[in-house]
Amino acid sequence: MKIVIGNDHAAPELKLACVKHLEEQGYEVIDTGVGVGEKCDYPDAARRVCTLIQQGKADLGILICGTGIGMSMSANKFKGIRAACCSEVFSARLTREHNNANVLCFGARVVGEGTALDLVDIFVKTPYSGDERHEKRIAKITEIEKEEVK
Ligand code: RB5
Repeated sequence: MKIVIGNDHAAPELKLACVKHLEEQGYEVIDTGVGVGEKCDYPDAARRVCTLIQQGKADLGILICGTGIGMSMSANKFKGIRAACCSEVFSARLTREHNNANVLCFGARVVGEGTALDLVDIFVKTPYSGDERHEKRIAKITEIEKEEVK
């Protein structure tokens, strides 16, 4: 599984901790984020991550800003992206199982490193259930996307 990760200036250290954690477990990680001391507007970071997913160059994405909110708002504007802003593991698990989320967002000013690594773990390890009722609801999200994004 290939994971693409991005961050703005609020989260370079937490991003590096997530990259290390994933690589130690054998995941291939594409780091598109900024480093310590660099500035970046969160929509630009979201664009880089979502574009690679849309192109099929990564399976899942992780976006970290101060709150995770700007990243999730931006990411959800991209076709085919279902981004979830989570600060606890129950939501991170359910958004994979039920929503088939392909991007996890969280805030470096909201969660500590321990929670962040737990969020990342549960998100990348939980499969989508594929259940019929969830399929139907996700198809409705896609319908909205088609109607709205001309
Ligand atoms: C940047 O200071 C901050 O606004 C950003 O990281 C994020 O929290 C936005 O949602």
